[in-house]
Amino acid sequence: MCGIVGCVAKEDCYGKLLSALEKLEYRGYDSAGIALLSAGGKIAVRKKKGAVANLFGAPVAGSAGIGHTRWATHGKPSDENAHPHVAGKFALVHNGIVENFAALKAELCAAGETFASETDSEVIVKLIARLYRGDFFGAVQAACERLEGAYAVAVLCEDFPDEIVCAKRRSPLIAGAGCGAAYVCSDVPALCGAAAFVCPVEDGEFVHIRGCEICFKRADGSAVPKVFCRLAEEEKGAERAAGSRMEAEIAEIPRGLSRTLGWLRACDFAPAARALRGAGRLFTVACGTAHHAALAFGNLLAREARIPVLCETASEFRYGDPLIGAGDVLVAVSQSGETADTLEAVRLARERGAYVIAVTNAEHSTLARLADLPLRTLAGAEVAVAATKSYNCQLLALYYLAAQTVFFKRAAFPAWFPALEGAAPACERAFGCFEQVADLAERLREKPAMYYIGRGTDRFTAAEGALKVREIAYLFAESCPAGELKHGTLALVEEGFPVFAVATARALAAKTANSLAEAKARGAFTALFSQEDFAGGADFSCRLPALPEALMPLVSVIPLQYFACRMCLLRGFDPDRPRNLAKSVTVE
Ligand code: M6R
Repeated sequence: MCGIVGCVAKEDCYGKLLSALEKLEYRGYDSAGIALLSAGGKIAVRKKKGAVANLFGAPVAGSAGIGHTRWATHGKPSDENAHPHVAGKFALVHNGIVENFAALKAELCAAGETFASETDSEVIVKLIARLYRGDFFGAVQAACERLEGAYAVAVLCEDFPDEIVCAKRRSPLIAGAGCGAAYVCSDVPALCGAAAFVCPVEDGEFVHIRGCEICFKRADGSAVPKVFCRLAEEEKGAERAAGSRMEAEIAEIPRGLSRTLGWLRACDFAPAARALRGAGRLFTVACGTAHHAALAFGNLLAREARIPVLCETASEFRYGDPLIGAGDVLVAVSQSGETADTLEAVRLARERGAYVIAVTNAEHSTLARLADLPLRTLAGAEVAVAATKSYNCQLLALYYLAAQTVFFKRAAFPAWFPALEGAAPACERAFGCFEQVADLAERLREKPAMYYIGRGTDRFTAAEGALKVREIAYLFAESCPAGELKHGTLALVEEGFPVFAVATARALAAKTANSLAEAKARGAFTALFSQEDFAGGADFSCRLPALPEALMPLVSVIPLQYFACRMCLLRGFDPDRPRNLAKSVTVE
């Protein structure tokens, strides 16, 4: 949801901004822009609809600059709506949503202001310009006081060369220090190779960069002492040899699992033991793919630890007035750690006294900082919008947590716990089915829709497989518990309609095979994904590497991820940049 960057550097400030913007582009690629403040005190802006690559060309001179990559909220993707926005001596980039922008805009229009864009963001820079009396920081601070909603902003002022003032509320912002350069940025991976040290900005704080000095401030201008930490190696993304990011990220699954397991082994669960042992209820909150991982966890834990687990999609959690309170545990799952709906659910749970465990791929994220126990996945930076390796790593971390919970409740680990060691090699073996899956995609490339079914935990894998196809291949794909097929969805099945079944739970496999046979009897093209060879006569059968049944979702999703990627490529789309979507959903 938009990425912002600010940089002060004597050498190649423009190049540094462009390089960070390219890495931030997955946050939105509707438009991109850069503003540079030259030594002569003039702001120059280059902004364009479309990709960051549109900004390439002769460098813009200047040693302080800001940049933006946009995921449109207010106003269509266009050159005019692209950031930075300019008013008087100021230029601004913004990530977030100003909820009271209509009222502010009306007030500014009444005062004679005119607007060049349809964005909420332009209102902020107009406010700053009107409030300015020679005090750069004071004007930004006073403007922010008028804003409702979420924002991370970086601002340039022509009267202050080599300075940037930033403010943050509910949208992510990180400060970074590199060799001869000072940065602010929406996320850490975009600063890889540029900043050696980073420090997250908290809500309500401001960052004032002057030359290479980075000063954190409160609203009254007083300094906030901060400790910067070294930027870790694993924040870097997958190295892309050829093909799409998504393919590279699928290939990284085994490595991500090994690193995640290593981290979990060294993690001290003792502080969480009391909360987990005494947990009255356990809740999970997450969105999209992360929610599917949470559902698989909830299903497993309820069976193994015999405690009620309520899995809610984060965007609904707080509106349902949940029965959460002291003594309960909330597990929040988020790759980015910045998903606004998930963060709001966590804030509510904390207010009500629940113990919060976070599973996130972003060490410095807001979610990690909000949690009592932050658990890390070390998938490496995930750039493709469609989540893949982060999902497998989330499952691993959640299974590990489930095993710890069982141990704290029953003084014994579940039987499958040691088999987590075999997860990475099993995933590696799952890659062996890619050729077969690529053929399947070729066969189904003209189909307009498909259905996914599964029973028990397999239904969550089915849901994840369908989400991937919707998201990047733009096909109507849905899922349901296999037993539900005959309660309505079967009506959709006609000659050649593809129905995919995931069947890894042995006790349920025969029943799933029955559901698939019912679909086939009505003309469906049936595909089966299982570690067993069981009778059923599916049109396509993919044999999965075996793990203990409880852990099968770790591998069974891999052919489905790959299938979606192939379908997308065959249909001529870019799997890394699906239309209308952004990687990190930092607005509600
Ligand atoms: O960063 P998060 O894990 O919190 O993101 C949640 C969802 O937005 C995300 O999983 C989304 O569903 C993926 N793009 C699906 O592939």
